[in-house]
Amino acid sequence: MRLAVIPGDGIGPEVVSEALKVLGEVVPETEITHYDLGATRWHNTGELLPESVLDELRQQDGILLGAVGDPSVPSGILERGLLLRLRFELDHHVNLRPARLYPGVQSPVADPGEIDMVVVREGTEGPYAGNGGLLRKDTPHEIATEVSLNTAFGVERVVRDAFARAAARPRKHLTMVHKTNVLTHAGSLWSRVVEEVSLEHPDVTVAYQHVDATTIHMVTDPSRFDVVVTDNLFGDIITDLAGAVTGGIGRAASGNIDATHRNPGMFEPVHGSAPDIAGQGVADPTAAVLSVALLLDHVGRTEAARRVEASVAFDLATRDHSAPGATHAIGDRLAALVSSREVAQQV
Ligand code: NAD
Ligand code: IPM
Ligand code: MN
Repeated sequence: MRLAVIPGDGIGPEVVSEALKVLGEVVPETEITHYDLGATRWHNTGELLPESVLDELRQQDGILLGAVGDPSVPSGILERGLLLRLRFELDHHVNLRPARLYPGVQSPVADPGEIDMVVVREGTEGPYAGNGGLLRKDTPHEIATEVSLNTAFGVERVVRDAFARAAARPRKHLTMVHKTNVLTHAGSLWSRVVEEVSLEHPDVTVAYQHVDATTIHMVTDPSRFDVVVTDNLFGDIITDLAGAVTGGIGRAASGNIDATHRNPGMFEPVHGSAPDIAGQGVADPTAAVLSVALLLDHVGRTEAARRVEASVAFDLATRDHSAPGATHAIGDRLAALVSSREVAQQV
């Protein structure tokens, strides 16, 4: 497996090096190329994502990314110029964000029940498409627009992916999250596509929720969700919430996927560069490690993926959550577990 690694900014490099420790145990033959994209390269050279680097990334089997974004760089430069550009260029239309409450982990929700959901977030459209602008800039009449782009093609492919995932899960339940009561144009397109694709999946039950109500249910009754399909922005917001209710954003993994497999997937924690804790060695690397499991699943190394997940499950079930230890200590534990007998027995 050829893997590009983009550690990025803030805690990105800290959590990625732990994820690579674990990967090194399960797939030692991985050929890794590091790319120093991020704040430092931008400061030094003004470069965000040179074409030559993009061409190299396209040749890989997968990409592992830590996080981008730094207080020394104006907001949006790295996020748009690097992270979103990668998602768009590599046609990552499925942004896969599972959220599971592992045994032993305390949810901030009093009575959470069993939480095991997958949010399928659209990844290349919505308000993220960059379809907007400023008029009459720096005047009292300045106008800013960010037009949400929703194409029948784009909505259908992510909805199809979500239905296929729902059909393959025991509960076979899909919730579309949107804001059809206000965003009536995009809402009717999404509703129609969900209805049409549902006809091909009579075994999948379908529900709809407005995104505002979803934030209520995410904290009062999170176990109701199985597969959630939603647009790019709503998916961004509800997956931070899903991460929080499953015990912390430090465990939330994600995969940016081109479901046609024409482009390599990019796997990264849901969280960002966390400048408030960067450099302290206290970031939880579990989300980065679980992102490696998603990567392994995507490239067909399912047994290795299950071993990585089982290591995390074992660690979380036995971890002293009041003193989880430093970033590198968690990484060391997971790297040891992944080739242990306890984990081998569970897979
Ligand atoms: P953030 O996710 O970086 O941090 C939010 C909170 O969660 C902070 O209190 C942080 O300390 C905590 N946190 C995050 N990851 C953690 C971990 N592994 N262990 C323990 N605690 C953790 O979000 P933010 O503060 O809004 O954004 C910071 C920067 O990151 C911004 O520049 C933003 O644009 C960028 N960002 C990048 C990505 C990405 O690269 N995929 C994702 C989100 C935000
Ligand atoms: C995420 C992040 C990104 C997003 C930003 C940094 C562009 O918040 O991966 O969740 O909004 O998708
Ligand atoms: Mn986000």
